Amino acid sequence: MLRPLVVAAPFLLWAFVGYVHAVTIYGPAGALRPSGTASSSGSGPISTGTLVNTQWIAALNAYNDVKLQAPALPNPMPSTSFAIGVANNAAGMGGLSIPQKGNFFGFSIEMSVVEQVLGLNASFIQIPFLNLLATVADRGGSVRIRIGGNTQETASLVDSLPNNAMIGKDKSVIGGSSRTAQTPTLEYTDELLYLLSNVSSLVNAKWYLGIPFNDTTHLRLQIAEAADSILGDNVLGYQVGNEPDLYASHERRPVDYSPQDYSDEFGVMVNGIHDDKKITRTGNLIAPSLQGTWSPEDLWSTGYLDAYGSSINVLAMEHYPDQNCAAEFPDGGFGPIKNPQDVFPNYLTHTSGQNLVKPYLNTAGIAQQLGKEFMMFETNTASCGGFPGVSDSFASALWAVDYGLQLAYSNFTGALLHVGGQNVSYNPFTPPPTNLSLFEKWTVGPIMYSTLFVAEALGTTNTSRVVDLAANGGNEFTPAYAIYEHDTLSRIALVNFMQEQNGAGSYSATISVGGAAFGESNSVPSQVKVKYLLAPSVSEKEQITWANQTFGGRFQVDGRLSGQEVIQTINCDQSANTCVVPVPGPGAALVFVSNDAQASSDPKASQTYSTTTVTNAIQTLTIEPSVLAHSNGHSGNFPLSGTSKGGANAALRLHSIDHSVVLIFVLLASFLTFVH
Ligand SMILES: *[C@@H]1O[C@H](CO)[C@@H](O)[C@H](O)[C@H]1NC(C)=O
Ligand SMILES: *[C@@H]1O[C@H](CO)[C@@H](O)[C@H](O)[C@H]1NC(C)=O
Ligand SMILES: *[C@@H]1O[C@H](CO)[C@@H](O)[C@H](O)[C@H]1NC(C)=O
Ligand SMILES: *[C@@H]1O[C@H](CO)[C@@H](O)[C@H](O)[C@H]1NC(C)=O
Ligand SMILES: *[C@@H]1O[C@H](CO)[C@@H](O)[C@H](O)[C@H]1NC(C)=O
Ligand SMILES: *[C@@H]1O[C@H](CO)[C@@H](O)[C@H](O)[C@H]1NC(C)=O
Ligand SMILES: *[C@@H]1O[C@H](CO)[C@@H](O)[C@H](O)[C@H]1NC(C)=O
Ligand SMILES: *[C@@H]1O[C@H](CO)[C@@H](O)[C@H](O)[C@H]1NC(C)=O
Repeated sequence: MLRPLVVAAPFLLWAFVGYVHAVTIYGPAGALRPSGTASSSGSGPISTGTLVNTQWIAALNAYNDVKLQAPALPNPMPSTSFAIGVANNAAGMGGLSIPQKGNFFGFSIEMSVVEQVLGLNASFIQIPFLNLLATVADRGGSVRIRIGGNTQETASLVDSLPNNAMIGKDKSVIGGSSRTAQTPTLEYTDELLYLLSNVSSLVNAKWYLGIPFNDTTHLRLQIAEAADSILGDNVLGYQVGNEPDLYASHERRPVDYSPQDYSDEFGVMVNGIHDDKKITRTGNLIAPSLQGTWSPEDLWSTGYLDAYGSSINVLAMEHYPDQNCAAEFPDGGFGPIKNPQDVFPNYLTHTSGQNLVKPYLNTAGIAQQLGKEFMMFETNTASCGGFPGVSDSFASALWAVDYGLQLAYSNFTGALLHVGGQNVSYNPFTPPPTNLSLFEKWTVGPIMYSTLFVAEALGTTNTSRVVDLAANGGNEFTPAYAIYEHDTLSRIALVNFMQEQNGAGSYSATISVGGAAFGESNSVPSQVKVKYLLAPSVSEKEQITWANQTFGGRFQVDGRLSGQEVIQTINCDQSANTCVVPVPGPGAALVFVSNDAQASSDPKASQTYSTTTVTNAIQTLTIEPSVLAHSNGHSGNFPLSGTSKGGANAALRLHSIDHSVVLIFVLLASFLTFVH
């Protein structure tokens, strides 16, 4: 997908310059960046003074400074030196998942924040967003993004909006009397769909959209009509109904609204969609997207799947392990505000993911029988904005690695991490607030790194079958998974939820492959490659590295990884059939058992690209392409100098970038929405 772009880049570059105020610019095989930032190295701080000193920004949950205490080491301590035995052939292992794809983890983006996250229109795309998507797509083959959420239910596609805007927030608020029940209504133009289409032309991104379900007597199917024609294959499907089991409590339906009522209404939608000849794609609905108030079985027992299964492509659920609603709605009847420190340990254990999947194992089996995908369509650490200090800590990154692999093992086929607004602490990525949207001032959340880990763990062959190894006697602090591709062991993922204290808390796993226990020959290779996900502590918010690379700290992110990629080589003892892999506490390790396994999920140099958007109020911009966007390919094949952020080595000069460009962002005041 990206290759033609790179070839065409010089032409595009100049075309764009003439087109608008150098709004979106792609560089010839390299980063284009404003001068003045070019010399800042990946680790060097970019001045954020004006941002962090602004009180109203500091008060937003996306930038909270809560730093929690690491939980004490478990008592009793698990063994910190244990053996893991796996078969080399899938046939020798029990309980493998169905084949999974590297795009397992994707993103769910609240419709009301599209302008801030994706861009203002089809010609003004947020380059950090493209770069972030590319980091996932380069590793997992593609990236799936849902645009929707509560706001999809009352959103309307209109022909045009004042000031040529793409999205307008209607002042009227639909919903009941309580604040928790209200949602601002959105209007948008088809420019939004062209924007998605343009993103897909630059990164291998696929989309899920939502058809409004607020009113089944007056269907509004325009989004599907338009998206089918504008997005074609890049739209994967349409969600119909978002958390219908919360409609009653959100005062959108009568208090006695039942699974049968919802099922009947869904039928009305199915018929409407069927009868609409402008909707050219069929059988691609996503439903029922229950939040958990109803169990899936409550709905299946109405005959829902028999009646409508043929219209549905993805069975979906939306669930968070906890909620922080009392903080957001102190008078909302949610009881006392939870203390993040108290819930912190709940995220530092394998049991979190296990408990999350448990209510859905039956449905995962049903989905398989029906040949449907089964997705956790919206999820994150905690609804109602997450827990400051938890949702944005390294603990959340380890939690999401384990949760993602647990979902894959449990035969979900994907999970979308939710991106809310500026006032939530769980975002994988957050654009800068309002008018401060300067180039490379984004912030990534720790769970963004989990998406890279899981994408690489599953790779690009579409054959990855995952098994929870119940390692170390099934200990909850030291989980491990094996991944088989083409029915052969390819990778092992090891997680350490413990925080090392007084020299205790790290562990070593002694991995054996094949051998008599599996009726196979001894199969450890002579060496394995290992990539680590690391941070100084479980409460760390910024200094997080994946294979020694980082997106950067708060307000420092342009979407590319920087720093020297480090892939460890660990020599194995083939006569003993063992490889000893240390896992620091806290941390996670991805062990590539074969070179093929690594090549399959390694970001390809040929697919990398880098970009910038020119939104700085700089009269004359120097834009410098660096050699590679992010990461540097294969082990042992060290990149050219200058691959890290800021390691630019060439310069193109663009003149006369107008001051007005910076005003573009002076309208994005309300990134604060009623979301999870
Ligand atoms: C559904 O949403 C549309 C658009 O916001 C609104 O005009 C309509 O009144 C809503 N219908 C109901 C029943 O709330
Ligand atoms: C993006 O969309 C606009 C409007 O639909 C189109 O004119 C433009 O060529 C597209 N740009 C790219 C980079 O695809
Ligand atoms: C952000 O969320 C907190 C609750 O976590 C709330 O008290 C505060 O008012 C919100 N801020 C804005 C600007 O909405
Ligand atoms: C996932 O599906 C496979 C294939 O049907 C099955 O063998 C396995 O037990 C399932 N895993 C779980 C955790 O239910
Ligand atoms: C950005 O917005 C803030 C808050 O609305 C305002 O105080 C500030 O002056 C604005 N800055 C610029 C450069 O427009
Ligand atoms: C994996 O599946 C995707 C569709 O989801 C497809 O585009 C891709 O070509 C497949 N890759 C392989 C190696 O089969
Ligand atoms: C990790 O990256 C940093 C920053 O780029 C670099 O200084 C350091 O040398 C790297 N570590 C190794 C072991 O290469
Ligand atoms: C896209 O948005 C930018 C920034 O507001 C504006 O300058 C440009 O005219 C818009 N382009 C279109 C085609 O609407």
